[in-house]
Amino acid sequence: MEVKASNTPLVQWTGDGLAIGLFEDHLELTSDLEALNDKLAGTIQELITEEEFKGKAGSTIFTRVGGGSQVRKLIVVGLGKAEDLNLERLRGAGASISRLGKKQKCKTLAISLPTCNSPAETAQAIAEGVELGLYEDTRFKSDPEDKKTTVETVDLLGLAGQKTAIALAQKICSGVILAKELVAAPANEVTPVTMAETAQSLATECGLHLEILEQEECEKLGMGAFLGVAKASDLPPKFIHLTYKPQGSPRRKLAIIGKGLTFDSGGLNIKGANSGIETMKIDMAGAGATFGAAKAIGQIKPDVEVHFVSAVTENMISGHAMHPGDILKASNGKTIEVNNTDAEGRLTLADALVFTDKLGVDAIVDLATLTGACVVALGNDIAGMFTPNDELAKELDAAGDKAGEKLWRMPMEDKYFEGLKSSIADMKNTGPRPGGSISAALFLKQFVKDTPAWAHLDVAGPVWADKESGINNSGATGFGVRLLVNWVMS
Ligand code: BES
Ligand code: MN
Ligand code: ZN
Repeated sequence: MEVKASNTPLVQWTGDGLAIGLFEDHLELTSDLEALNDKLAGTIQELITEEEFKGKAGSTIFTRVGGGSQVRKLIVVGLGKAEDLNLERLRGAGASISRLGKKQKCKTLAISLPTCNSPAETAQAIAEGVELGLYEDTRFKSDPEDKKTTVETVDLLGLAGQKTAIALAQKICSGVILAKELVAAPANEVTPVTMAETAQSLATECGLHLEILEQEECEKLGMGAFLGVAKASDLPPKFIHLTYKPQGSPRRKLAIIGKGLTFDSGGLNIKGANSGIETMKIDMAGAGATFGAAKAIGQIKPDVEVHFVSAVTENMISGHAMHPGDILKASNGKTIEVNNTDAEGRLTLADALVFTDKLGVDAIVDLATLTGACVVALGNDIAGMFTPNDELAKELDAAGDKAGEKLWRMPMEDKYFEGLKSSIADMKNTGPRPGGSISAALFLKQFVKDTPAWAHLDVAGPVWADKESGINNSGATGFGVRLLVNWVMS
């Protein structure tokens, strides 16, 4: 599929599907829409009236245009109130139009939407919506239904000259799609071993430096927390470190860490009935977003050095499994009483944080599907942001806003660390249920010492969507990639 841009006037464009946008409460057809309506013998006006179209954001209507006309299908998308127009609306409109265009078997599609912020940002947002709206995961279907007709070209009308913005959207979306594919693939397909292979392909394709620490090297570094989690798996753990270095001297040095549990059974504190254990292939979504960001950044090539780190393993049960109550020693020497083997993500992140803290970066952001408590607090659309650093909080808020990926800052209430006090070790890995996402963040904080700024994003909610909404098709969302790219480039 190709996305291009031109200044072809609406009345002159010919092809399968032509899509226009209308604001709520501004349904009168003026200027070029009026001309198009006249040319189509009033079809647009009839469609709006017949369907009682109100222009609500995300709503779409369409009609077949009479024989011999310049276009076969006319699509109208609602943009909501004019004063609420933002990039996320445009992304959503791009996604709705392209999904409908595909359903209506349009090989060629033109999209005419109003500009928001700048032509470049407009083109990028619509192109992102189109790319992600059309994405469908057919990897595991033996006979995919819709392999036949797909949209082949999309022309963004009125945005001629925005090639670079469209190319940027495509680089970013290739990262989002990688993240989606890693998260959606089941745990018998995406394993610590295949994650290492994926990292190797990324390194080769995007010119990144790759370091993989095998189990023995992790042992030498004293990564007892990470290895404790890995003990019951039949698969070897892989500690993955990709680095992007710009040509000249970097403006900043940053690190991104992703939780990489390719499956979380809970361990001996096994997840019980109705716990969603069958969904726990998503527990590497932090690593998925980290790899997705690496893919995008490796192509965009900003003037910032970025490290991408994940301690990848599965949390399983076997005779080798760590016992509830075991005491593990992390690579910074701190001891942890594992009072719950299902709080495994923070154990793997502990060693990943200690490792990354020694890289001398200006800031670390970790992403983790860390707690059900965060989902209870913020629901499925918003990630929890935990950081002691106001400046980094601002940067991430701005990056998320621009990406349409929502963050809400949560308190790092030091007092709650009392809940993690152990009588026998330096700390327990699990505190009381109330404030569970906060004590998890306070646990992680114990493993960052020298890096000036650190933030933890609990993404357990937004990495998966049960149903299609806005730019997200149902399934893995690739949450975090766009936010991370914006952050690195800010
Ligand atoms: N991977 C889970 C958290 C999770 C829950 C991710 C729902 C995605 C959706 C994590 O490892 C976990 O099991 N957390 C426990 C922590 C508890 C034992 C302190 C939880 O949230 O119940
Ligand atoms: Mn768990
Ligand atoms: Zn987990």
